Amino acid sequence: SDSDPLQDFCVGDLKASPSINGFPCKSAVSASDFFYSGLGGPLDTSNPNGVTVAPANVLTFPGLNTLGISMNNVELAPGGVNPPHLHPRATEVGTVIEGLVFVGFLSTNNTLFSKVLNAGEAFVIPRGLVHFQWNVGQVKARMITAFNSQLPGAVVLPSTLFGSKPEIPNAVLTRAFRTDDTTVQNLKSKFAV
Ligand code: GLV
Ligand code: MN
Repeated sequence: SDSDPLQDFCVGDLKASPSINGFPCKSAVSASDFFYSGLGGPLDTSNPNGVTVAPANVLTFPGLNTLGISMNNVELAPGGVNPPHLHPRATEVGTVIEGLVFVGFLSTNNTLFSKVLNAGEAFVIPRGLVHFQWNVGQVKARMITAFNSQLPGAVVLPSTLFGSKPEIPNAVLTRAFRTDDTTVQNLKSKFAV
């Protein structure tokens, strides 16, 4: 959903400041600007959520600048969860490369659309909707996801709500989640930045 380009390509000059709709074009371009080797993994998934994402977006792969497209390599440990999140600037399409993954997204009327996917199966997450992935298999799972934006952005709900800087006042969160200070404080302690 990014704007259409007005030239064949415009490899991003990441040293320049980004302006509206991307980076200025780099002047000397070569073949290597259009290839990227960072999607193969394996990634270290030993973290609290058991998920690691390696993005091939304009910031890691500047050849994507102005082209309205990007990808991720997502790896999940057994039981690992890519936490509920949304991409403000893109629809996501993905496929499971290995493992067994429960994929779900929520419509704006809170209907959950979900399925357990095997290798070779694909999913789509409409732009801006909350979604998650959960490795329900016994071994590592791996997915490749793709976006119609060079920089889709990710709003990750747990860290947005409980790990912001400065913090959202407890009064807001206790009321919003209909809970108490202890619970909110406990959640904040897990996402403190
Ligand atoms: C998965 O949801 C991803 O954003 O790569
Ligand atoms: Mn996503």
